Amino acid sequence: MEIIVTKDYEEMSDKAAEIVIAAIKASPELVLGLATGSTPEGLYERLVTAHKEDGLDFSHMTTFNLDEYVGLGPDHEQSYRFFMDTHLFDHINISKERTHVPDGLAADPVQYCKLYEEMIQDADGIDIQVLGIGRDGHLGFNEPGTSLSSRTQLVALAPETIEDNSRFFDSEDEVPHFALTMGVQSILEARKCLLLASGEGKAEALKGCVEGPITSMLTASALQVHPDAIVIVDEAAASRLERLDYYKWVQQAREQIAGTH
Ligand code: PGA
Repeated sequence: MEIIVTKDYEEMSDKAAEIVIAAIKASPELVLGLATGSTPEGLYERLVTAHKEDGLDFSHMTTFNLDEYVGLGPDHEQSYRFFMDTHLFDHINISKERTHVPDGLAADPVQYCKLYEEMIQDADGIDIQVLGIGRDGHLGFNEPGTSLSSRTQLVALAPETIEDNSRFFDSEDEVPHFALTMGVQSILEARKCLLLASGEGKAEALKGCVEGPITSMLTASALQVHPDAIVIVDEAAASRLERLDYYKWVQQAREQIAGTH
């Protein structure tokens, strides 16, 4: 894992945007995996600015989102399709047919999850997968106890996740209890993973992800076996990492090497 420590949320978002924008420029047909939640909002703002101000072209790209609540349609303000449309897709030049968010209203969710996997395969896999991390260490909605070889599936949300996400709903009772999510294995197959974390609330989960044992009890720890995982975290989220000084030292060395080329 490459650990990049930034001073705050804004710098975390700048770094993530730098990586994603460079990848889109290098490969306009990029297949980008996307995440929802508060964490990637700054990244999406920067992608919109790069389109509006510098003409960054998204028209040949394809996107796949990690997850969606079961029971919420695209018009529901808390659906992840609605989030993606309003935070990113409506403001860039990508045709909606090229954007994929699991269908929370699918009549046969089990069959639909297989289809979602096939759609990812048909696009030749995901080049870069953007990820957040839950307080319980989840990746996508892969809650503690999910098999590390799971693929896209229908899952029940953990009580902590329902509580965390209730801030977006009028009350906790309105938070759906089920979701469709890409599995841990589906995520690990992305060619590059970019995990973002900000704030003290994520520090414990992040420690487990980076330094803890690889365990289904903290599904983000599976990223330790990914050959190209970049973790971009602010100081607060990084605050419990035991080897923090070492990661910073490596980061400095990388910057020096990059500077000499
Ligand atoms: P957040 O959610 O970005 O809103 O903190 C992250 C997650 O639950 O994966």
